[in-house]
Amino acid sequence: MLNFNYCNKANIIFGKKEEENTGKYTAQFGKRVLLHYGMNSIKKTGLYDKIIKSLNDYNLEITELSGVKPNPVLSMVNKGIDICRKKNIDIILAVGGGSVIDSAKAIAVGAALPEKENIWEYFMDKSKKINNAINIGVVLTIPATGSESSTSCVITNEDGYYKRSIGTSAFIPKFSILNPEITYTLPAYQTACGCSDIISHLMERYFTQVKNVDLTDRLIEASIKTVLINGMYALKNPTDYNSRAEIMWAGTLAHNGLLNTGRIGDWASHYIEHELSGIYDIAHGAGLSIITLAWIKYVYKENIDKFLQFAQRVFSIDIIEDKEKAVFEMICSLENWYNKMGLPTRLSHVNIDNSRFEEMAKKAMVAREHVGNFKKLYFDDIIKILELAL
Ligand code: NZQ
Ligand code: ZN
Repeated sequence: MLNFNYCNKANIIFGKKEEENTGKYTAQFGKRVLLHYGMNSIKKTGLYDKIIKSLNDYNLEITELSGVKPNPVLSMVNKGIDICRKKNIDIILAVGGGSVIDSAKAIAVGAALPEKENIWEYFMDKSKKINNAINIGVVLTIPATGSESSTSCVITNEDGYYKRSIGTSAFIPKFSILNPEITYTLPAYQTACGCSDIISHLMERYFTQVKNVDLTDRLIEASIKTVLINGMYALKNPTDYNSRAEIMWAGTLAHNGLLNTGRIGDWASHYIEHELSGIYDIAHGAGLSIITLAWIKYVYKENIDKFLQFAQRVFSIDIIEDKEKAVFEMICSLENWYNKMGLPTRLSHVNIDNSRFEEMAKKAMVAREHVGNFKKLYFDDIIKILELAL
């Protein structure tokens, strides 16, 4: 196990009806609130009215910025930065999923920068350090990205369709309200995409070359099994509180840093996927179900024993003499689960052909020495993984 420093200060408020306390938690960070949300789901579900009532109960001054689209874009972030500066906003309240939260995070950091600085430069140049941000609060509507307590933020720049992530502890929201009941209204496909993303965050951490990380290995295995089982159950029973709650908490734990302690995660599947959702605007979780399978096929020989441990402990696969066969069986089991969840497992399932593979591989390498840590990948490797995913 490697040395580590773990601190995550997000106050997680979990459970039924907790969104009715949004005003109470928001008021702790000031009076002027930027209410940031997506296209229209929160109005359709009635969540918007509950949030407004709760903020009004605490006499907060609300400015609204809606219209964040999935795979959030830089132009919306710049709009938000302008509003925050003009209105001297104290706290940005993100009501939505990863897209809204990430848009809020980029606005929060961008508004705290000196006016002449451009937030996008921080996405492209990792040596530039972020220290300040406006306060961020969250009401989560979809368990998936873990952005509600993660240090990361992912934004697409429409100029060239670069989708890039950055990380800093300044991004960690001051509080996040998680009521599993809010997720009852999720379309089945979004529930499935969310589960796929959670499983990927767990697998990205699991497949490390760092030895002696048994505790986090086992916590990750338990978390994956929880999502495999409860994901299927939630699809069949969308209003089952218990399975929605298990998925929601797993989503947070998968990406709040705890399961990364003492180990180095991989993240190649994520970096390659970001090129897909950046260019083709597919759901992040759907891109991950495709790329993860191809990635396993390409890298498993780097440390086959780690894949055998995963096969045995997560999918109860007997380790017979033929190790390759056991890994193959594990890939089939995972693919089978994705299929049952209604997720794509090939690029052709989302109508993507090989015409932009070179562009994607090139972009994935921009400002990076390599992609992934389990096996370091370069341009040619990324092309081969994309070909395996066709
Ligand atoms: O826009 P609205 O109308 O609200 O609809 C949304 C959207 O269409 C809908 N939705 C959300 N909650 C709902 C609901 N519909 C009905 N009922 C509800 N309760 O779901 C759709 C997807 O929302 P989105 O926020 O895009 O999903 P997700 O949470 O998966 O976020 C994806 C984004 O986060 C990034 C992804 O790359 C992608 O851009 N990620 C962020 C990370 C982070 N900051 O830590 C890590 C991840 O690996 C990921 O890269
Ligand atoms: Zn993800």
